[in-house]
Formats: sequence, C-alpha cells, structure tokens
Amino acid sequence: MRLVLATGNPHKVQEIEAILSILPLREPVEILPVRPEGEESHPTFLENALEKAREGFRKTGFPTLAEDTGLVVDILDGAPGLFSARFSGTGRSESNIQKLLSLLPGTSWDLRRAHFVCYAVYVDGERELWARGVVHGYLLSEPRGTQGFGYDPIFLYAPLGRTFAEIPLAWKNRWSHRRRAIEHLFQQLGWLHEGRDLP
Ligand code: IMP
Repeated sequence: MRLVLATGNPHKVQEIEAILSILPLREPVEILPVRPEGEESHPTFLENALEKAREGFRKTGFPTLAEDTGLVVDILDGAPGLFSARFSGTGRSESNIQKLLSLLPGTSWDLRRAHFVCYAVYVDGERELWARGVVHGYLLSEPRGTQGFGYDPIFLYAPLGRTFAEIPLAWKNRWSHRRRAIEHLFQQLGWLHEGRDLP
C-alpha cells in the first residue's frame, strides 16, 4: 500500500520508515514523502498535523500520514511546545537548544522535566483519524550525543540514562513519542497484526 507522508523534514522520513519496518504490518506500506506548504500556524498540534495530512491527500489523491511534534517543558508553562521548530527564530536546532537551556531556572531534576508529544493524523478522503504519543524525560544542561535531531541531544531518557542522541535510532524508536503515535494510529486503522510482541 502506498502512503503519502506529508513532511519536509528528512529526519522524520527516516524515523517513520524505520518505525514502519518494526511494526507488525498486515501488508507492506511504501512511504512517499511530499513536502507540505502550510505554515503550521494553528493553535494545536492536532490542527497543524490535520492541515498537512489534508493537503497531502488533496495534492496526491493517496492516503496521507502527517504528524506534528513539540517539546513541552513543565516549568516553562509548556514552552517551546507549538513553537519548538522556530523557538530561537533561526530554525537551527543548536540555537533552539541554547535558547531553551538559557531559560531553565535551575539544575534540580524537578525543574528539568519535559516531554515530547507527537500527534499523528491519517486522511484518505473518507476517514480522518488521529493518535497521540508521549515520552517523558529530563533536560540536560549540555547537549550529549550526535544521533537523532532537533532537541534529542538534551533530552535524557531516564530509564537508559542516555539522551535520544546517544542511542541508535532503533532504540529511540522503541520508546519515542513518534513511534507511540504511529503505532496507535495504525492500530485504529486495523493495519497491525494483534497480539504480537513489538521489538
Ligand atoms: P515539527 O513537528 O516539524 O514542527 O518539529 C518541531 C520541532 O521539534 C523541530 O525543531 C524539531 O527539530 C523538533 N523535533 C521534532 N521531533 C523531534 C524528535 O523526535 N526529537 C527531537 N526534536 C524533535
């Protein structure tokens, strides 16, 4: 089955292809990336993802998957949240990380709690389905690791004691917000074999 992926982010394409390769799919899914033109200017992640998915379907006529993701920091009232991509105004991950670290008020772990949230949406002209995935962690005061993208180098996944940038993509995909959202979405679509242990 062909599934359009409405994203202009090559990291997301790579991650989602890897996620699909570990899910127990009833039939193979071939990803076709299409860059959306929308501005991600809605007040919720869900609406941003929905707009991208609708645009992908409108342009291609194929079932379309889109997602919108953000990093949510409790002590900063949810920032950078919806503004995760353009938090520093430059669009560069290193600057976004530096700005975020400069705003954190202290070093205690309690003040450094954060989570990634991902909303994944599926649109095929008849159905519009969505699912949410979350992963909790803590923000380090300095980046660590070279893998992943975005805020991964400062996001400490506590059960491993490593950041998402210090572990292989296959590990990130076991626990990530994106994997959880896509898995729940595909469950709703009935695309997964039930009762199988996932890697
Ligand atoms: P968007 O979903 O493309 O709007 O991404 C929002 C921002 O969050 C961008 O700055 C991304 O680099 C960052 N981001 C999205 N997903 C992840 C992730 O899985 N890890 C780290 N940063 C991410």
